[in-house]
Amino acid sequence: MTNRRKFIKTSAAAGLGLGFGILQKAFAQSAPASNANASVFTDGLVLSTWDAGLPANAAAWKAMQAGGNALDMAEKGVNDTENTLSNLTVGLGGYPDREGHTTLDACIMDSQGNAGSVMFLEHIKNPASVARRVMEKTPHVILVGEGAYQFALAEGFKHDDYVSEESQKAWNEWLKTSQYKPIINVENHDTIGLIAMDMSGDLAGACTTSGMAFKLHGRVGDSPVIGAGLYVDNEIGAATSSGLGEAVIRTCGSFLVVEMMRQGATPQEACEEAVRRIQLKHANYRDFQVGYLAVNKAGEIGAYAIHPGFTYSLLKQGENKVYNSTSLLDK
Ligand code: GLY
Repeated sequence: MTNRRKFIKTSAAAGLGLGFGILQKAFAQSAPASNANASVFTDGLVLSTWDAGLPANAAAWKAMQAGGNALDMAEKGVNDTENTLSNLTVGLGGYPDREGHTTLDACIMDSQGNAGSVMFLEHIKNPASVARRVMEKTPHVILVGEGAYQFALAEGFKHDDYVSEESQKAWNEWLKTSQYKPIINVENHDTIGLIAMDMSGDLAGACTTSGMAFKLHGRVGDSPVIGAGLYVDNEIGAATSSGLGEAVIRTCGSFLVVEMMRQGATPQEACEEAVRRIQLKHANYRDFQVGYLAVNKAGEIGAYAIHPGFTYSLLKQGENKVYNSTSLLDK
């Protein structure tokens, strides 16, 4: 063996050794340190983004009262928003892309760590339910575009040609200048991210959106990306996001929030760290909004955004109310 080959072999072995050491440490740390003895909240709760989460929370709760688990709550909750065709940022009523197509993104996760997602889906009213079918009926996690549409039809979902007059009007206006300018807290792309905890203390979540208004045809945001727009780990907690999807994807936002909680952070501290990570990686962070929500197994809540104005809806202990999140740029 030449010296060089010997060096490569030794380095590789050393590298492996080092890697294994790091891995061992990571595995040791992946035990839910601060949560190991934490009590599990078993009153049930629903947490969702924005004021529009209020009726979604109520629908989720109704699903639980009808015998549903956390997954049913998450699905039925966000279905309520998808079915609200006056909503311009979720479902078929949402703003179109710059070619005039309303394309939908959604994902769902259950308490077992299973996940399903659809991206760039057209003409289907309830993308979150299609995501659930992807999770439950296929060996895959993500289906996109025409494939997702054909799968939905095969699963009994109906083709829907609904076009929102209001979103078409906005598109026609946009065509006059053809410039995308994020509007903070309107952002042209709100989302509903919803986390549900059932009476067993099990967690599930769903996230669904029509994405950024007047986006490039084919653009997909954070909402259907597992670990970005949503992440659920039933041992630890769950997180979801709303706002500029690109910034959330770059920082694996929701996964980061859950991993911070695993390391002992409260949900609030974890959301704050995820926003700070965006600040660190984006010189222009003042130009857009991102907000995170998180829940841990004890039923504690976190909410934090870049800008003031991010609201969230919380249904807990008989109350369903809208709250203002704190933010990085709070004065
Ligand atoms: N957060 C939704 C999107 O960026 O599409």
